[in-house]
Amino acid sequence: QANERESMYLVSEYANTFFQNSLHKTEQGKAIGLTYYKERGFTDATIKKFNLGYSPDTWDALTSQAIRKGYQLKFLESTGLAIVKDNKQFDRFKGRVMFPIQSMSGRVLGFGGRILTNDKKAAKYLNSPESDIYHKSKVLYGIYHAKQTIAKEDNCYLVEGYTDVIQLYQSGITNVVSSSGTALTSDQIRLINRLTKNITVLFDGDAAGMRASIRGIDLILEQGMNVKVCTFPDGEDPDSFARKNTLEDIQQYLKENTQDFIRFKASILQEDTQNDPIKKAEVVRDMVASISKIPDVIKREIYVQECSRIMDISEEVLFNALAQLRGAAE
Ligand code: CTP
Ligand code: MN
Ligand code: MN
Ligand code: MN
Ligand code: MN
Repeated sequence: QANERESMYLVSEYANTFFQNSLHKTEQGKAIGLTYYKERGFTDATIKKFNLGYSPDTWDALTSQAIRKGYQLKFLESTGLAIVKDNKQFDRFKGRVMFPIQSMSGRVLGFGGRILTNDKKAAKYLNSPESDIYHKSKVLYGIYHAKQTIAKEDNCYLVEGYTDVIQLYQSGITNVVSSSGTALTSDQIRLINRLTKNITVLFDGDAAGMRASIRGIDLILEQGMNVKVCTFPDGEDPDSFARKNTLEDIQQYLKENTQDFIRFKASILQEDTQNDPIKKAEVVRDMVASISKIPDVIKREIYVQECSRIMDISEEVLFNALAQLRGAAE
């Protein structure tokens, strides 16, 4: 229902303003929230640009103030900003730094809220629940600010997290969006596809990031897009890496470490084959499976040639394997 959704947008916009006011204009926000952002190296301009905020550490500051201003509880509840239990209402986000998630056109759809400690037991990020205006599988954090440069540079950097987007943006790399921890989806890739055919995946330098990159590749290829991967040193993510380096160094690193997907797959999969023929066969099959997702026959041919060179297998055999896979899929 269009009217209900509009009311949800309005209450989200109100919450966005509320969280920013509480960051910039309250003692608690300044002492805790701003200090946190500053410690992460975010400048004032960056904090404003991304509308970063702070949710006060109280039971219902946002909910009660919104209701006083005339917003209806039902929309605070349907957006997940308020939780209603036993006829009492509470704020969902308490004592967290707040990252508003904006649509392509800049509307606030939901929020991610980070705890201020590195307590391993508590969930680090709390996100808005699915709602009529927030479908996490269909949004990309940062797209509103990145869309122009993505089109201009004809490339989109894809990162895992909120802070990766923000830190790279602050460094001067502004064509960057995040899947925000969810496994990348076809709908998210489709959003990028409207702006460019080229994606460079910059996931975290850990096992989870590696696995996520591999999963993402086939989804991107399926939409006829080109995908490259740049891996980061173990334990680094784009945020931590960008903080330690100048723009020139980051650009240099990206230039030297970005690989086409086929070389990326070969290099990581080969790491654990150790000349074992059976494992090598699995690697080749895996590469062919990715190639089989490419809709364009000419591109497929080029990648078969590349795979043949890298793995030292004849093109004929690869084409046979490819035909089998594509046959099975049809
Ligand atoms: N995420 C989430 N819930 C969690 C952990 C992660 O929603 N409990 C999402 C967030 O969008 C986060 C992204 O997954 O930004 C990547 O996770 P991670 O790499 O663990 O966090 P960072 O973005 O590196 O966060 P930080 O630097 O603040 O620790
Ligand atoms: Mn903004
Ligand atoms: Mn991670
Ligand atoms: Mn990370
Ligand atoms: Mn991080």
